[in-house]
Amino acid sequence: MRKRIIVANWKMNMNISTASIYLNNLNKRTTIHRNLEVIIGPALTLLYPLSLEIDHRKFSLAAQNGYFKDQGAFTGEVSFAMLKGLVKYAIIGHSERRIYFNEDHQLIRDKVAAATRNEIIPILCIGENKSERVANDTKRVVADQLNSALYNLTSDEVAKMVIAYEPVWAISTFGGEIPKPSDIQKVIDYIRFQISELYGAKVASSTRVLYGGSVNSDSITAYLALDGCDGALVGGASLNYLEFSKIIEKGYLIDKLA
Ligand code: 13P
Repeated sequence: MRKRIIVANWKMNMNISTASIYLNNLNKRTTIHRNLEVIIGPALTLLYPLSLEIDHRKFSLAAQNGYFKDQGAFTGEVSFAMLKGLVKYAIIGHSERRIYFNEDHQLIRDKVAAATRNEIIPILCIGENKSERVANDTKRVVADQLNSALYNLTSDEVAKMVIAYEPVWAISTFGGEIPKPSDIQKVIDYIRFQISELYGAKVASSTRVLYGGSVNSDSITAYLALDGCDGALVGGASLNYLEFSKIIEKGYLIDKLA
């Protein structure tokens, strides 16, 4: 059975003191859930201090980025080899990195491979932009992003991965249109179909698939109720511990509703 996950992507927000206050407050409002993993994705500078502070039974850490070479003369970069042991997950291929930092298929593929060889589970973000959606091109875009990123991986590695479907037009800072859960259902089904075509049905039923884009404590339940949706990648709403704790609570309650 796939364990549900809720990921906070803090993006470029918070410093050591605000993060510490936040986690202290979130910790008080969070209990240990057997079927729900809560992942915090803070800025790089916060990973080490937070790793000493958090209750690892309640929270896991994710890096928001990493470099694909393990070491060398790459000024300013931090490799997945350096993140090994510090984080369990890494967000890779986020649309902000594709758009603002020109990350292409090849680079994302190399990053996914580097994270995996360093025993870090990739949370691979894929999703079409507004014009691709209007042109009815969603399936092609999602298939291209998926197929190219998974290219170097074994079946076992793909089975352990997390895929986050984040349509760019639904991200709060890129327009924040609220998608219909039925639209998301179609793409989640298509992602599993693609994985199944490439790696077989067993792998496709193991890989966790998330939704991301303007998720908040009101909308989360409808997304979690979708068939095959294993959780959410939350941006803006994860910056407020009260709001994020409500999202976690809904993630826990969904099993009780089932
Ligand atoms: P929002 O939840 O702010 O739309 O951000 C989504 C996102 O980009 C998470 O990675």
